[in-house]
Amino acid sequence: MSVQIGNIDLGDFPLLLAPMEDVSDPPFRYVCKQNGADLMYTEFISSEGLIRDAAKSRQKLDIFEYERPIGIQIFGSDIEHMREATEIATAAGPDLMDINYGCPVKNVACRGAGASLLQDIDKMVAMTSAVVKATHLPVTVKTRLGWDDNTKNVYEVAERLQDVGIQALTIHGRTRAQMYKGVADWTLIHQIRKNPRIKIPIFGNGDIDSPQKAAEWRMQYEVDGMMIGRAAIGYPWIFREVKHYFKTGEMLAPPTIAERVDVCRTHLEKSIAWKGPKTGIFEMRRHYSNYFKGLDHFKEYRMKLVVADTFEQIDEILHRVTEHYSEQMA
Ligand SMILES: Cc1cc2nc3c(=O)[nH]c(=O)nc-3n(C[C@H](O)[C@H](O)[C@H](O)COP(=O)(O)O)c2cc1C
Repeated sequence: MSVQIGNIDLGDFPLLLAPMEDVSDPPFRYVCKQNGADLMYTEFISSEGLIRDAAKSRQKLDIFEYERPIGIQIFGSDIEHMREATEIATAAGPDLMDINYGCPVKNVACRGAGASLLQDIDKMVAMTSAVVKATHLPVTVKTRLGWDDNTKNVYEVAERLQDVGIQALTIHGRTRAQMYKGVADWTLIHQIRKNPRIKIPIFGNGDIDSPQKAAEWRMQYEVDGMMIGRAAIGYPWIFREVKHYFKTGEMLAPPTIAERVDVCRTHLEKSIAWKGPKTGIFEMRRHYSNYFKGLDHFKEYRMKLVVADTFEQIDEILHRVTEHYSEQMA
């Protein structure tokens, strides 16, 4: 059965790209979309930053036609500011708005925001209601199981947020206290999905890193779709591999070296097109080791890639990577 959010049709069992700070920007989203991501989100954007008109927050509002459907994710601790930020983000023309109630970090930006709201559900509900009223777009929420092991309150959160009008909920199967440690536990996500009161799509998130696990957890936890984060970093093929496995029960061959190089180059080109050569090349540096994970002695090439400062130089090194490793693997 097709999954709907508002009038957005996501098809059967959509795969979502997780919002990831400093990772899920438009160049990265481009390569994920090419490889089958059905719904994507921006990195989280500070409501305070948007209101102050901070350049960094504003830039994160950039979205492109090829990305649709796309959601803008915002976070904040002040309800009135979240309302204002929703209006600003809505004007940027996304397909939906998402609220972050999952960020576990305690820095200035996240103080009282993100997962902190799991300690004050009444405020979370009031904030969500304000956001829903401030936009004509569907609103979704991303959160965690609860604050810590003793307060896993997402079951109640799901019902109350649905009641104030959210149209889908993604749950990361960890508590705030777990940060990213331990193993994600989707048991509670399953219970929410089985709650007869819940009518909105429930997406599972946390630790999906292979087609087999995706298929197993799909069966076991009966979610409406899955959100994938870390496994897509440097490996956007995860989306097409999971889809292929769902359809055929067989593993798609992994990308060849030539394909890895091609996608890495596309990512670089999009990065330059979006941010200009200087910043585009600089920001791409953090991605090379991810694209070529597992290749023997790749470090030598990586060292060259991260000091090269023109597209031509990088392209030349990438050609050498293709030659070197294609021969090695032939
Ligand atoms: C580098 C990084 C940045 C992240 N930034 C965000 C963010 O901006 N908003 C958000 O809701 N979650 C953020 N997350 C959490 C992910 O969206 C996701 O919930 C988490 O990584 C678990 O999914 P995974 O096991 O598939 O990676 C971030 C995670 C990572 C690793």
